[in-house]
Amino acid sequence: MNGMPARQTRVIRVDPAHPDPNALVDAAHRLRDGGLVVFPTETVYGLGANALDVTAVRGIFEAKGRPSTDPLIVHMADASDLPSLVRDVPEAVGPLTARFWPGPLTLILPKQPHVPGEVTAGLDTVAVRVPAHPVARALIAAAARPVAAPSANRFSRPSPTEAAHVLADLDGRVDIVIDAGRTDIGVESTVLDLSVHPPLVRRPGGVSVDAIRTILPDVQVMSRVSDAGEAQVSPGQLLRHYAPRARMTLVEGEQHAAAARLLTEARARLAQGVRIGILAPAEDAATVSDALGDAVADGQVTVRTFGSRAEPAQAARELFDAIRAIDAAGPDEILAIAPAPEGIGLAIHDRLTRAAEGRVLR
Ligand code: TXA
Ligand code: MG
Repeated sequence: MNGMPARQTRVIRVDPAHPDPNALVDAAHRLRDGGLVVFPTETVYGLGANALDVTAVRGIFEAKGRPSTDPLIVHMADASDLPSLVRDVPEAVGPLTARFWPGPLTLILPKQPHVPGEVTAGLDTVAVRVPAHPVARALIAAAARPVAAPSANRFSRPSPTEAAHVLADLDGRVDIVIDAGRTDIGVESTVLDLSVHPPLVRRPGGVSVDAIRTILPDVQVMSRVSDAGEAQVSPGQLLRHYAPRARMTLVEGEQHAAAARLLTEARARLAQGVRIGILAPAEDAATVSDALGDAVADGQVTVRTFGSRAEPAQAARELFDAIRAIDAAGPDEILAIAPAPEGIGLAIHDRLTRAAEGRVLR
């Protein structure tokens, strides 16, 4: 981006389960000094800065090319840091944090006055979470600062689940990348808004809605992001998100119906000489690859699987890498199939709907 000072990006490799504390000292110092440090969480890699340093926080938006209207999540080392960031803590927070923290649940609560408007996009609420990844926790504890961190991708690109994804998007734009290998969950945290009644899931993610419902029986789920074409329903709920460079269309349905529909769509495009990429769980991918064998052999069709319908957690783990990989194959168009929108599958479905910018066939 024009005018942005180039940064020398240093990569630090650490053991994901037992990070050497000495290796994290530099990174913690960079955070305290206003630097940008990319670190692994259990969901995706985050692009971190000291949440209380306005200049550092502005650097996050600059590095990502993210509009300043999209608020950031503040990461804490421990739930006991909560009162320093949020004004009042509703009763439900106790059982929710006891069950889901550290972990992939983000809570939206009324902010303390000193939390900068740059972090919250001027809102009176702040999003907070305690990540479960040992590296994230050790880093935040060593920095002794709350750490604002969006996913460490360029704006509208798929979230990064490994350091190579981060470097593809942000090399020269951040100070340090802490590489601890592939992240475990693969989709971002569930964003639960406790500042509204009834409580509202604004983004499905690593914690399932059913699990939240055991504690908050009246929790609502934001109506389809795909309906949001005209108006932005909530900050950051832009439809163009996670987008590959090639145009993507999502095909919905149970296994056989979805594969049949995808084949019809694929054949129509192949007849016009369009090169297509297919992104699907293993079961669907097998059916489709068999049926399109010749076009696959000719290279007119590239098929990339992510997990399987039988193992949606694996599908979540592989999703963003698969989107980047199918895109790198250079198809004119991508056709995708999502696993059933249940449990973690709801988050996968949400991300693919947004990657397809709302183009969904059923
Ligand atoms: O798993 C995750 O949540 C990752 C890791 C790095 O922690 N972070 C992440 O951050 O996905 P980001 O910035 O890519 O997504 C944060 C989401 C956005 O959709 C944003 O609009 C929403 O949280 N958000 C943040 N603060 C909010 C607020 N005060 N009100 C409503 N939505 C908010
Ligand atoms: Mg993001």
